[in-house]
Amino acid sequence: MNVVLGISGGIAAYKAPDLVRRLRERGANVQIVMTASAEEFVTSTALQAVSGKPIRSNLWDKEAEAAMSHIELARWADVVVIAPATAEVMARIVSGGAPDLLTTICLATEAPIALAPAMNHVMWGNAATQANREVLEKRGIHILGPGIGSQACGETGAGRMLEPDAIAAAVFSLGGGKGESLLDGRKVVITAGPTREAIDPVRYITNRSSGKMGYALASAAAAQGAKVVLISGPVSVPAPPGIEVVDVESAEQMYEATHTAIVDADIFIAAAAVADYRPATVVKQKIKKKSDAMSIELVRCPDILASVAEMESSPFTVGFAAETENVIEYARGKLENKKLDMIVANRVGDNFGFDRDDNTATALWHDGQKSFPTCSKIDLSRELIELVAQHFYAVRSADTQPRLTAISNSD
Ligand code: PMT
Repeated sequence: MNVVLGISGGIAAYKAPDLVRRLRERGANVQIVMTASAEEFVTSTALQAVSGKPIRSNLWDKEAEAAMSHIELARWADVVVIAPATAEVMARIVSGGAPDLLTTICLATEAPIALAPAMNHVMWGNAATQANREVLEKRGIHILGPGIGSQACGETGAGRMLEPDAIAAAVFSLGGGKGESLLDGRKVVITAGPTREAIDPVRYITNRSSGKMGYALASAAAAQGAKVVLISGPVSVPAPPGIEVVDVESAEQMYEATHTAIVDADIFIAAAAVADYRPATVVKQKIKKKSDAMSIELVRCPDILASVAEMESSPFTVGFAAETENVIEYARGKLENKKLDMIVANRVGDNFGFDRDDNTATALWHDGQKSFPTCSKIDLSRELIELVAQHFYAVRSADTQPRLTAISNSD
């Protein structure tokens, strides 16, 4: 896959060499185009070393234009991504002007364009920037993030550039998995996040799931060429570009949405933390404090994962097991009881699993298992999707993927 990586002048440009590395690791050819102010934050020497290609920055560089003109570069790209994208570069693209090489390429390309904004949170919240974001989105430009957190200026808020691996995953999903396509033409349905089970109009029962694991899996599956339907409980993780997201709230709604999407699916991955129980009745008006104690009768929610696994022509079905103790033993029990093809066991609670960027997991199948050391949910997802793809083809159609290696029962 050919990626034009535009770098504009923000402090997050220091992450650009890492982004180049992540893109190249996945097999992308990366051509860097820097704006003049980007050079204030990261050197072209470092970027040339990691990308293996001379850096382009000047629209009027006769020698470089003779080798590959800006128009050829715009045609060569399968995806154009700008990371970091400053408020200034967003405004320039909105205006439709072409004062420099990067904005000229944006005007001249037919490839998908993605911007990973990075700026101070007040600049991001400014009405002008938000209006520009809206225009860009309406024109079909993908806005990746930004993330929320502490900023280089010492303040906290929305405006942090997404991590390089998340951007690389999004770029590959925009490129339709070009370059790496283990799941080309396959449909993958993934559930993510928590569910909310209403008690009354203002209260509900939920859990600590953030959706990060399920969303990372969705990006990783799309990066491998899959058509992904992500059925999501209420989360604040940004929707991955190019992925159909179906928003739901309760376990019942997640069940319905899953069974609508699952009909022609090849793989189902249940990463959502679905409620096991819900209030037997939803009280119509807000419950008033009357006595010192109260109890709520709970009834079982449908088990979405088990219901998919028991379908007559079920897809390759992968569950997750969130456990606080006896993690592997309990997970293997769920693998057998729910008749799954695979289960991913992860410890939760006490700084594990929920609402974190990292995870530690073991994938289990009937006659084997594989442990993954603690790593980011993004890296873990990439490895899990490869493992799932290997097992999917081994079980369902071993003859269709000659490049897959034999599966070993490793740990
Ligand atoms: O969202 P994050 O903050 O990133 O956290 C990630 C995670 C910890 C939520 C995730 O990695 C995880 O473990 N997800 C499964 C959580 C869970 O509900 O585990 P469980 O052991 O209670 O359920 C077993 C399996 O049955 C799960 O695949 C679950 O999706 C499924 N299930 C459970 C109940 C139900 N009513 N329907 C279901 O489909």
